[in-house]
Amino acid sequence: MNYYFAPLEGITGFVYRGLHHKYFGGPDKYYMPFVSAMEKGKIKKREKKDILPENNEGINAIPQILTNSSRDFIDTAEMIADLGYTEININLGCPALSVVKRGKGSGFLSDLDRLDKFLEEIFEGMEKCRIPAKLSVKTRIGRRDSDSVPELIELYNRYPIYELTVHPRVGKDFYRGVPDMEAFRAFCEKSIHPLVYNGDINNEGDIEHFAELFPKVGSIMIGRGLLQDPAFIRRVRTGKEMQKEELKGFTEELYQQYRKEMETPGAGGINAVNRMKELWGFLGVNFSDRERTLRKILRAKNPVEYESAVREIWQ
Ligand SMILES: Cc1cc2nc3c(=O)[nH]c(=O)nc-3n(C[C@H](O)[C@H](O)[C@H](O)COP(=O)(O)O)c2cc1C
Repeated sequence: MNYYFAPLEGITGFVYRGLHHKYFGGPDKYYMPFVSAMEKGKIKKREKKDILPENNEGINAIPQILTNSSRDFIDTAEMIADLGYTEININLGCPALSVVKRGKGSGFLSDLDRLDKFLEEIFEGMEKCRIPAKLSVKTRIGRRDSDSVPELIELYNRYPIYELTVHPRVGKDFYRGVPDMEAFRAFCEKSIHPLVYNGDINNEGDIEHFAELFPKVGSIMIGRGLLQDPAFIRRVRTGKEMQKEELKGFTEELYQQYRKEMETPGAGGINAVNRMKELWGFLGVNFSDRERTLRKILRAKNPVEYESAVREIWQ
């Protein structure tokens, strides 16, 4: 089985990826949170920093683009390929309302004619401009419902998609409910592409259950399960459990690097604290017997409160 780290915007930026790789390793690929393609291949400074090769050294990191403009996509793909990347992922799943209402991410899935035209233009454009990168897709199964899954599969079958990751939820459901395994089965039966399954794989039992149901699918993408248990894939592969000291080192170094990386004038370290609090929201499952201390971490309003609560949790 191949295991991929899912893109998690606001969490798995380059600092996180680098330290995850250093402390735990395991994933065959780390998908990067999306960059929003703008005109002429421009992207935000923060997003550029995230994809710079020098910030991803030694890591198999795959950039992802979010847009509904084929021209912006091609310009951005060209800029990314020039950095040396050989795979670029297309985001057709983001459920955020601000994205969906612009017809991007999972919003694109409610207008399949437009999506078809977009894919036709970008696959043609990549060839015409001789951009040497393969395109993979990460998709949900619809925007509001999954009624168009058969058409969606046929649509994707018309293009040379390198790998097709399916998160079988509709955009409207965000992360609620359970993945629609029947919709995923339809992809298994009808899609011509190498499939990657994504959604709610949180432990070894989930992997075993999935592999029994879909023995031909050779790749799984994991997001929140890895945030909760950063050693998950390593343990599956080598049996090596997460040590308390490792998690302590990982979270301390993350915090220190965020302090340097995210500091803005007058912020007084709060950006790093907020970033860490988001992660602790997931890591909390490992500290179910330390609820009070965990709450202190999650409520910390400044570095002093954060650091004191973290010291307490390791005691
Ligand atoms: C905080 C957060 C940020 C996310 N950011 C992205 C993103 O940038 N691109 C993307 O394709 N999916 C994004 N996702 C979706 C995840 O990659 C993944 O599809 C989803 O969490 C389901 O997988 P899981 O159950 O293994 O977590 C995000 C999810 C979360 C919770």
